[in-house]
Amino acid sequence: MPMAFVLTLAALLAADPVSAPGTEACATCHPAETKLHERSRMAHAMMPALASPFSQNLPDRPLRESADGYSFVYRRTLAGVEVTAERGGDKADGLIEWVLGAGAQGQTPLVEAGGRVAESRVSYFPQLHQYGITIGQHPGASPNALAALGWMQSAHDLQACIGCHASAITRDLQPVIPGVQCQRCHLGADEHARDTSHHPLNPGKLPAPEQVRFCGNCHRVKPPVDDGQLENVRFQPLRLMKSRCFASGRLACTTCHPAHQDAVRNKSSFYNEKCHSCHDSRAAHVDARQTGDCIACHMPYVQLHVALRFTDHYIRVVKTGDLPADTIRQRGVN
Ligand code: HEC
Ligand code: HEC
Ligand code: HEC
Ligand code: HEC
Ligand code: HEC
Ligand code: HEC
Ligand code: HEC
Repeated sequence: MPMAFVLTLAALLAADPVSAPGTEACATCHPAETKLHERSRMAHAMMPALASPFSQNLPDRPLRESADGYSFVYRRTLAGVEVTAERGGDKADGLIEWVLGAGAQGQTPLVEAGGRVAESRVSYFPQLHQYGITIGQHPGASPNALAALGWMQSAHDLQACIGCHASAITRDLQPVIPGVQCQRCHLGADEHARDTSHHPLNPGKLPAPEQVRFCGNCHRVKPPVDDGQLENVRFQPLRLMKSRCFASGRLACTTCHPAHQDAVRNKSSFYNEKCHSCHDSRAAHVDARQTGDCIACHMPYVQLHVALRFTDHYIRVVKTGDLPADTIRQRGVN
């Protein structure tokens, strides 16, 4: 079993933050991979607040959680973005140093207040050019100013949160290397950079089911709540593992996702070719669909929220009623 590949916190903790190498340690010998990866969303899954679309698009007017709720005033400072939540005389201040999410769907800040860290109540949804309540948090007015700043994280939850969005952190949970960088997938790469006779982990060489679980360390193989929730479509490994295609033992994430790149979009021929590598294009499906876009019917888009859309990786004949009809979206149409 791939226990060795479970990304433990110990593997994340940089013993010596100052010398912990980032991607620059790999760029000299692997320029092509580095150049590609730098442009990927995974590389930017966490970013300094001042560099984030969240802070760069803030309106001049205060934001409000609801008509009778708290208002939020943001100020850009050298340390990051200061935020004040206020209603009547009740007021709380926080500091945002880091923002999570590359901005493809949503961006959510971490807010430091009173020695603790909260998941901000306010997120930015770049596709909609809108600020709104963070997905998963309740709508309406908060009970007090501190709660309005966000959802206070336990040390355990914060570790998990940063652990999936950064590549090295200090013992007091400061990210040393934000984003999913080389050494987060290529375990042992730091030693390899110092002495190339040591080989790092290459997930491309893992047997397909192990690779799926490896990526599933972050993309998840287990549902956080229960298996019946529609929200689980966002956990690609979990869904993919239900597929009969996966049972072949040969279907990996990298079958369809070239390493160091975002998902290929709006290119049905790219995915059709992957399907045809296992499904004979003549034998299977002897009807007009054969010329069609395989993923359009077998891996539909599912809209979970106005700002969030995922691809159902449970490859199957999607039956009517399988998924709520109003969540299924056509490809090529938004
Ligand atoms: C001094 C040059 C050098 C540096 C620096 C370096 N590498 Fe390599 N890397 C190599 C060479 C040479 C190979 C091929 C080794 C072989 O085939 O024996 C390699 C192979 C690899 C492989 C493939 C391993 C496999 O088994 O398929 C990965 C992944 C990798 N490097 C990642 C990294 C990462 C990540 C970094 C930065 C932390 C890094 N390398 C830094 C020279 C370097
Ligand atoms: C350390 C955690 C982590 C690991 C390990 C990881 N990912 Fe990710 N991945 C993320 C995060 C976080 C995002 C979201 C980036 C963003 O903010 O948009 C992401 C996004 C993606 C995307 C979507 C990019 C786009 O087009 O929007 C793909 C595809 C992806 N990962 C594939 C993989 C594959 C394949 C593996 C295994 C080889 C893997 N990931 C391993 C954390 C991880
Ligand atoms: C188990 C790993 C894991 C944990 C824990 C985690 N994330 Fe993520 N996060 C991901 C992956 C993988 C993606 C990309 C796929 C997706 O969007 O579901 C992602 C996407 C995001 C996005 C992009 C928008 C979206 O919803 O897709 C934001 C924002 C985000 N995470 C914020 C957070 C915050 C804030 C926390 C902690 C309070 C957190 N995440 C905890 C793995 C994780
Ligand atoms: C999300 C996980 C992930 C991250 C982050 C990542 N890689 Fe990789 N890398 C892979 C996978 C998966 C493969 C195997 C690709 C394949 O065989 O299809 C790979 C393969 C490689 C190889 C071997 C290429 C070959 O032709 O054999 C090198 C070298 C490499 N990566 C370097 C890097 C460097 C440098 C970075 C950072 C700039 C990086 N990787 C970041 C997942 C990752
Ligand atoms: C690595 C090989 C492989 C790849 C790639 C693959 N499949 Fe499959 N798929 C299988 C196997 C094996 C089965 C089960 C035996 C069968 O029905 O042929 C299967 C079954 C299916 C089924 C029937 C599922 C059911 O529950 O009855 C559908 C539909 C399907 N695949 C569609 C696709 C589509 C669409 C793609 C491309 C996006 C794809 N497959 C890619 C191997 C693969
Ligand atoms: C059979 C092909 C196939 C396999 C295997 C596959 N994906 Fe995907 N993936 C897709 C397609 C198709 C999209 C949607 C591209 C688009 O938006 O048009 C996608 C999109 C994604 C996204 C972007 C968010 C979303 O859900 O739309 C992430 C993240 C992702 N895949 C992760 C993974 C991970 C992790 C694995 C391995 C567990 C994996 N994928 C295996 C075909 C595949
Ligand atoms: C217009 C929707 C649609 C498109 C496009 C489509 N399929 Fe299907 N597929 C279905 C339906 C519905 C079934 C179940 C009934 C049937 O077999 O005719 C099915 C069944 C299957 C099966 C189950 C085994 C079988 O032959 O009955 C496989 C495998 C499959 N499709 C693969 C593919 C591949 C590969 C592509 C792309 C070349 C594709 N499908 C395109 C709707 C579609």
